[in-house]
Amino acid sequence: MTTPQQARPHEPMATLDVDHSDAEYRTWLKEAVRKVQADANRSADTHLLRFPLPEQWGIDLYLKDESTHPTGSLKHRLARSLFLYGLCNGWIRRGRPVIEASSGSTAVSEAYFAKLIGVPFIAVMPRTTSAEKCRLIEFHGGQCHFVDDPRRMYEEAAALAAGTGGHYMDQFTYAERATDWRGNNNIAESIYRQLELERYPEPAWIVATAGTGGTSATIARYVHYMQFNTRICVADPENSCFFEGWTTGDAEVTTDCGSRIEGIGRPRMEPSFVPGAVDRMMKVPDAASVAAVRALERAIGRKAGGSTGTGLWSALKIVAEMVTVGRTGSVVTLLCDHGDRYLDKYYSDAWLADQGLDIEPYAAAVDTLLATGVWPD
Ligand SMILES: Cc1ncc(COP(=O)(O)O)c(C=O)c1O
Repeated sequence: MTTPQQARPHEPMATLDVDHSDAEYRTWLKEAVRKVQADANRSADTHLLRFPLPEQWGIDLYLKDESTHPTGSLKHRLARSLFLYGLCNGWIRRGRPVIEASSGSTAVSEAYFAKLIGVPFIAVMPRTTSAEKCRLIEFHGGQCHFVDDPRRMYEEAAALAAGTGGHYMDQFTYAERATDWRGNNNIAESIYRQLELERYPEPAWIVATAGTGGTSATIARYVHYMQFNTRICVADPENSCFFEGWTTGDAEVTTDCGSRIEGIGRPRMEPSFVPGAVDRMMKVPDAASVAAVRALERAIGRKAGGSTGTGLWSALKIVAEMVTVGRTGSVVTLLCDHGDRYLDKYYSDAWLADQGLDIEPYAAAVDTLLATGVWPD
């Protein structure tokens, strides 16, 4: 029997003519959900790495290494949640494409899950998306569809969904609600469990970055729900409006150019960003993000993407503040994805020169902090 529904914004009209009692569909749906759940069941937890700091500071800095998921970024968690949400809502249908607006990482993970359940996948992305991410999307059987103006990603993805009868996943709207923020081994619950045997098991601060805003919302909500004292800081790159929107309370604020730090920084206040849950925001220059991510490699021998640098820069500033006031404790930030995806960007001096980015003063600030405990202003 056809179930007439009131279509809400972003909900796919394509499902209105579908017979929900159809036995074949229910068999397919059960099998698709089982495959996604089985993928989670086969997965191990991601590591909580230590960033070495001078022992006498009494401060421990950790990075939650999300680069070790099967699709290489924190977006593996989100893609799994979005697929389960879309399947269980009856929005994802056999044979119909899933379409997403993405700066790349989410699309890589969604291409993986689309292949797992056997539906086509189309990623709508800025033309500047790294070549490696495009290669990975195609490796997982997805198609790349580029837009010159990143602000047009959303309407282009919605139009493609309407034209193909597919489902526009819309991570920017649904990230915060598709994720289980009360627990279910979400990123926050995992961090707290891994800190249990540390000398400071309840972090003073957790620093996140925001693309959809879903990760910061999940962590912040979990902290408040569990009644922890941890504070949540969101680090925002140059070409993004989250910082201004959070500071002014203006939900309509926009920027007119895309972020150079892939995966984070948005031109509009995304519906999944939950400003009220966040305690503090920091604006981070792009050159500082790159300097920090290169310092990470010197400190722990791991390359990471630019967004990891944005978060690490803010975490190091917070560490410096704690040293200044003699406060001990722990700070956690995220290693969002692997640097191999960005060898032609954040690890390329030619790219830095082309962008007019001078990382030297920022690299010197990190070195000074690590040597003296003082943040040079
Ligand atoms: C590399 C990277 N880091 C950080 C983030 C931020 O995550 P969220 O979308 O949950 O705000 C993203 C999101 O796209 C990302 O791709």
